[in-house]
Amino acid sequence: MIPCQRHLFDIPDHIAYFNCAYMSPLMHKVVAAGQQAVTLKAQPWRISPPDFFSTPERARGLFARLINAQADDIAMVPACSYGTATAAQNLPVAKGQTLVVLQDQFPSNVYPWRELAARREAKVVTIPRGGNDGWTPRILDAIDANTAIVALPHCHWTDGGLVDLDAVGRRCRQVGAALVVDLTQSIGALPFDVTVVQPDFAVAAGYKWMLGPYTLGFLYVAPRHRDGRPLEHNWIARQGSEDFAGLVDYKSDFQPGARRYDMGEGANFIALPMAIAALEQLLDWGVAEIQETLSAMTARIAERTAPLGLGASDPSLRAGHFLGLGFPGEVPDGLTDRLGRDGVYVSVRGQSMRVTPHLFNNDGDIDRLIDALATVLP
Ligand SMILES: Cc1ncc(COP(=O)(O)O)c(C=O)c1O
Repeated sequence: MIPCQRHLFDIPDHIAYFNCAYMSPLMHKVVAAGQQAVTLKAQPWRISPPDFFSTPERARGLFARLINAQADDIAMVPACSYGTATAAQNLPVAKGQTLVVLQDQFPSNVYPWRELAARREAKVVTIPRGGNDGWTPRILDAIDANTAIVALPHCHWTDGGLVDLDAVGRRCRQVGAALVVDLTQSIGALPFDVTVVQPDFAVAAGYKWMLGPYTLGFLYVAPRHRDGRPLEHNWIARQGSEDFAGLVDYKSDFQPGARRYDMGEGANFIALPMAIAALEQLLDWGVAEIQETLSAMTARIAERTAPLGLGASDPSLRAGHFLGLGFPGEVPDGLTDRLGRDGVYVSVRGQSMRVTPHLFNNDGDIDRLIDALATVLP
């Protein structure tokens, strides 16, 4: 178990922030890295051409370690939607084939598939919520020889409902379907290994469980898709771009590996040092240890919310860093605003109150949450 790390964050005592799934706070060292980076941009003579490559490479390498990949496998993206759009542009779908998603899946991992299905006269199959055995058995049932693409999260963004991606990956390989995963609500807090799941593409926005800045994420691309078409054509992604004097000697070849899919201005001088500082800390803590610690915390919270009549999903069917709590009736009006007035921050997604802690939370925060909930419940 990792002891409370609140001292590393800028969170006043009277704030109980249980909303990492919305946006993580930044550690002091991440803020300092960003401030230093802004100062550097004020003096651009201190930024040299090799920095356009070395800083992204460091970030790529650190993210790769989180998912047991190599720097070569990773492209820099601004958002999850950029990664799913890249995947949609590079995966084959024939008329009449199916694309599999979950009910109420996050829109950045739904819209590109709807649009692709419409263009190719394919069909989006949406797995409905329900059942007592979690998502995985119904996902496996929906994947057959007619499936072109399975696009899923590791855990559902509304309540943490877990998907067994190892099993789904195996099934996709059996039938020849492509697998695209959105790790935005899991990576950094829930172990994931590309060598086991073997997805075609895996993308994550970095401002939640990666504890990083907004508008910076990473895209894993399997080796079989390394000759695909990027969404945009920027100069850095082309071979030889290290030679700034020779940039108009236009090249048709790309930088190696997944780098061809890099967003324009991927050498983000402000966001990258922040992401690097956060990734180093995550790797130092260890993702399995983070998951274990947060699982214990959400279990303690579930134990204390049960007597208030709030139902939690079965711990074996949800990711440990997520707790989706159901109310006996409707979600009380203005719930998040009313809790916010007591310094307690959670989200409501659908009919679920989403409680998503991190290592900065302590038992005092849990007391505050329980006291505030007791005042809003009838
Ligand atoms: C599951 C999931 N994916 C992606 C995102 C963010 O998407 P994007 O980076 O396209 O804004 C969110 C934000 O809440 C999310 O919950």
